[in-house]
Amino acid sequence: MSRSRRRFLQNALGIGGILPFMDAAAFPGTNTFKANEIPHRPQPLKILILGGTGFLGPQQIAYALERGHAITTFNRGKTVPTTQKDVFNHVEQLLGDRENNLESLKNRKWDAIIDNSGNKVKWVIDTAQLLKDSADFYLYTSSTGVYYPYLGSDIKENTKAVLTLPPGLKEPQLSEYSYGVMKINSELEVQKAFGEKRSIIVRPTYMMGPGDRTERFIYWPVRLSRGGDVMVPGKATDPVQYIDVRDVANWMIRLIEEKKAGTYNAVGPSSPTTMHPFVYGAHAAFSSPANFIAVNDYNFLKAEKIMEVIPWIMPVDENKGSALINNQLAMANGLALTPLADSVRDMFDWWNSDDVKQERRDKLVSGTDALMAREKEILAKWKSRKK
Ligand SMILES: NC(=O)c1ccc[n+]([C@@H]2O[C@H](COP(=O)([O-])OP(=O)(O)OC[C@H]3O[C@@H](n4cnc5c(N)ncnc54)[C@H](OP(=O)(O)O)[C@@H]3O)[C@@H](O)[C@H]2O)c1
Repeated sequence: MSRSRRRFLQNALGIGGILPFMDAAAFPGTNTFKANEIPHRPQPLKILILGGTGFLGPQQIAYALERGHAITTFNRGKTVPTTQKDVFNHVEQLLGDRENNLESLKNRKWDAIIDNSGNKVKWVIDTAQLLKDSADFYLYTSSTGVYYPYLGSDIKENTKAVLTLPPGLKEPQLSEYSYGVMKINSELEVQKAFGEKRSIIVRPTYMMGPGDRTERFIYWPVRLSRGGDVMVPGKATDPVQYIDVRDVANWMIRLIEEKKAGTYNAVGPSSPTTMHPFVYGAHAAFSSPANFIAVNDYNFLKAEKIMEVIPWIMPVDENKGSALINNQLAMANGLALTPLADSVRDMFDWWNSDDVKQERRDKLVSGTDALMAREKEILAKWKSRKK
């Protein structure tokens, strides 16, 4: 969400009405739209979000409320949101557990369901079967992980996915395969219960942005803000892909509004890019002078145990095509992307806000095995090796 949007939402929340029943368009001049987002008054919808309080959920809720929709969430009440906290005063929260308690979901009606927390096939079977007559659409948050192993060079939505775990797997392949197999089978269960015409499957790549619960992408905003000699792993031609969580969240709401059933990769940037332009683009968020040092020898990186610094993933073996996912269908169906430097700046501001604990910040920079703490030594080795 842009700053002006966030401000709009805060102002709107301060007005005191129950926002889900207010229409954002009732406040002309206070809202802003991205270039390819057509301002219009969407029909107010009732949306159930399975989950809602982690990373993606708060952004979906903020955008949906802004567009006049009413939101119900279903979760255990354990996860505490670290972004968009104000919006939760305007949400109906149902408590339960996907493992064994779906009681609060019974005998209710919604226009659409968003399933963010479907991380076991059985959970998805249970909710999709239970709710197939309770809503028109079921949007399942899947992942580009369904394409693992990433062997193609232009991975489209109809690329065949592995449906069963190959025998004899060891880590790290085991976790990767398990996640992909779980996601693709969950997708199929949604389509089985709701039918393809009432199913929306969204497969995001690595999401980044305010509220990220992983320490993956945040490496770059923090590191680039500091400037100096910056290690850039990988070859200049290594492809990278990523997406702002807010772009995924907002687009999901619009897909529901527009009843766009189908399966979509949610991947940015809009056209293919590589690691070096990514680093330059992200650094544009800061004014710190930086000297980029390309550490472009995979063997050296492997010896240093640097196989990925998201969005960079060493493009070898099963990961060869992990950043070669095709986003044309998504772009043609309304996916709008935030400029990289804006995402990086917003993420940096969030990281340095009260919403993130100092301990977490310290760990990223100086924790045991923190890449940032090892960087100087790695660069020294790299320079002496080249001589
Ligand atoms: N992060 C990425 O880069 C990425 C990329 C591709 C796909 N994805 C997918 O994106 C999805 C979105 O994840 P998110 O965490 O951001 O979603 P979210 O909806 O913001 O948060 C996850 C929610 O799941 C709830 N939950 C967890 N266990 C539960 C249970 N047993 N019963 C009921 N609710 C439960 C949590 O609340 P409680 O803990 O309070 O129950 C929380 O509200 C995931 O399916 C993930 O696989 C993520």
